[in-house]
Amino acid sequence: MNRKLGRDGPQLFPIGLGCMGMSEGYGDRAERDETESIETIHRALDLGVNFLDTADIYGPHENEVLVGRALQGRRAQAVLATKFGFVTDREKAKTRRIDGRPEYARAACDASLQRLGVETIDLWYLHRADPQVPIEDTVGAMAECVRAGKVRYLGLSEVSAATVRRAHAVHPISALQSEYSMWTRDPEHNGTLATCAELGVTFVAFSPLGRGFLTGAVRSADTLAKGDMRRNLPRFQGDNLARNMQLVDAVTALATKRGCTPGQLALAWVLSRGEHVVPIPGTKRRTRLEENVAAARITLTDAELRAIDELLPPDAISGARYPDSLMELVNR
Ligand SMILES: NC(=O)c1ccc[n+]([C@@H]2O[C@H](COP(=O)([O-])OP(=O)(O)OC[C@H]3O[C@@H](n4cnc5c(N)ncnc54)[C@H](OP(=O)(O)O)[C@@H]3O)[C@@H](O)[C@H]2O)c1
Repeated sequence: MNRKLGRDGPQLFPIGLGCMGMSEGYGDRAERDETESIETIHRALDLGVNFLDTADIYGPHENEVLVGRALQGRRAQAVLATKFGFVTDREKAKTRRIDGRPEYARAACDASLQRLGVETIDLWYLHRADPQVPIEDTVGAMAECVRAGKVRYLGLSEVSAATVRRAHAVHPISALQSEYSMWTRDPEHNGTLATCAELGVTFVAFSPLGRGFLTGAVRSADTLAKGDMRRNLPRFQGDNLARNMQLVDAVTALATKRGCTPGQLALAWVLSRGEHVVPIPGTKRRTRLEENVAAARITLTDAELRAIDELLPPDAISGARYPDSLMELVNR
């Protein structure tokens, strides 16, 4: 049942845990509960979920501290992944730019190690490719961190198939992390899913629950907290949301027939896309974690996969996955 990190990395439970929402993104500050978040990470480890996902920019910085705290005394149980490359200015905390300069990579690695309180990062991703810096230069600096024993494996996030190949020629790339779910099927069209399979790169699917939408839990943008980032995403707005809800309701009926929740169906669908694919659903609550982890035992039949394609065809979703300002940061 387990999957693997890259060609020669550790075994991964088929479903990881995204930790971002414990510190930002969804809901508001009042909803965040460090104790429950840490309990959620501990419950994940108890259930065998070993692949934890954070990034230096989440919080910013708070999420790495939280994950590091949760891992005290349990470090050996986790395959710990973090990312660097997004930079935020103190005065303009919401504006993000990308820095992939080698000197910045080296400093970011040391800073992440310190915040996490660990000696080694298992998987270190470049969060977004810097258009001003050749990928070979950034990955060259990341490879130095591997040679220095600070990092075990390297990954990239939201880059094109061509960029994965260029990076892989400098140093083996073990993981590519991009958005992939029943409502975001770009990796099937842009060649990244196939390129990863060919090169032995694990494809880590982020937002596999469609940022919660595929669970059926988000029925209206008005119910989202003021600071919830989904308010800025075209798919969660106005007519788009109403149209997308009809599609998700149809898939929910299929989940009911199968005897699982819509979120579990969404995760089982991601798992069905290839042995090299690992979804990392995010939650800050133990109950939802348990529900999500149970999806690892669901294998969808060919008939169910065909039915999903008919109910929710690849390009049926209304609205872009990101607003233009964030889409521009994706390397295509
Ligand atoms: N590389 C990148 O650029 C990038 C971008 C985005 C995310 N990520 C990573 O990917 C991880 C996962 O993606 P994501 O968190 O954006 O989206 P997701 O996993 O698709 O959805 C997370 C949302 O779904 C809710 N949820 C989770 N399980 C649920 C369930 N069983 N029933 C109902 N609602 C449920 C969560 O709320 P609660 O927390 O309240 O349960 C949260 O609002 C992140 O945590 C982060 O580590 C990476």
